[in-house]
Parts: sequence; C-alpha cells; structure tokens
Amino acid sequence: MPVKILMVCLGNICRSPLAEGLLAAKLPKDKFFVDSAGTGSYHIGKHPDQRSVLTAQKNGLDITYQKARQFTPKDFEEFDYIYVMDNTNYDDVMELAKKEEHKKKVQLILDDLFPGDNVDVPDPYYGLQNGFDMIYEMLDETCDILAKKLIEKHQ
Ligand code: 4NP
Repeated sequence: MPVKILMVCLGNICRSPLAEGLLAAKLPKDKFFVDSAGTGSYHIGKHPDQRSVLTAQKNGLDITYQKARQFTPKDFEEFDYIYVMDNTNYDDVMELAKKEEHKKKVQLILDDLFPGDNVDVPDPYYGLQNGFDMIYEMLDETCDILAKKLIEKHQ
C-alpha cells in the first residue's frame, strides 16, 4: 500500500495542483500517491488554472492531467497526510475532522519551511502570473523538505 498524501486549497485549481505535481515529482511513484482537493465546490471537474499550468510548464512540470474535486470527510480515512495551503483551508478541513487521529493528519504545508509561524501560501487567483511563479518557489522549497522527511520515514 502506498503512503497517501493530499494537498488541499480552496478551489483546487491554483495552489494545490502545483503542490500535488511538485511533491509527486519528488517522490518514488511505487511508494507514494499524491492527490489534491479543494474545500470549495466552484471548480469541480475543471483542469488547473492556465496560470498554474504555465508556471508549472516553465519549470518542466506537467499538471494538465489534473481535475478539480472537492474535499470530503472520507479523505481523512483515505489519506495518511493532509497538507493545507492556508489557515482558512486549515479551519475548514479541521471543522470536518471528528476524530483526533484525523485532526493529527492535517498540517499547513509551509510549516516545515517556516516552523511555528503559521504562514499561508497566498491565494494567487485574483492576481497576476508573477503570483503563481512566487507560490511555485515557496511550494518547491517546502516540498523538498517534505519529500526528504517522507522518504526517510517510510523507506
Ligand atoms: P486555489 O485558488 O484555492 O489556490 O485553487 C482559488 C481558485 C478559485 C477561487 C479562489 C481561489 N474562486 O474564488 O473561485
């Protein structure tokens, strides 16, 4: 059984698709499965935002195959780790967690990069392309740390 990791943002079209693509590319596919979801329902079934696709492409990463879906409480059973992009996502996901073991799975994705500072991956949706490039860099850095930790823990 692979270790399963879920990336969560609001729409599942900007931030979490990049996080999914980045972490998946840093982990061995036979041991890890990475997916993403949104707390909101607005974009279900849509491919990632063109600006996320472009930023990923510029960095040699293909995320075009992804399709948005909504986070469901079943994901607490299904996934071993749930990384949320910002504090609002954290509150929304935690509100759905009814068991302590489920709550323990949820972490802000930048916690490993900025421990204890509760830093958000800023929502780039209403901004320009450079906002997507900026969050890509943050996610790339934190996913390097996450991948290293996950591989060490589950090898
Ligand atoms: P994401 O960005 O949560 O990173 O996918 C957003 C996408 C869509 C909306 C907000 C944020 N929206 O309001 O539709």
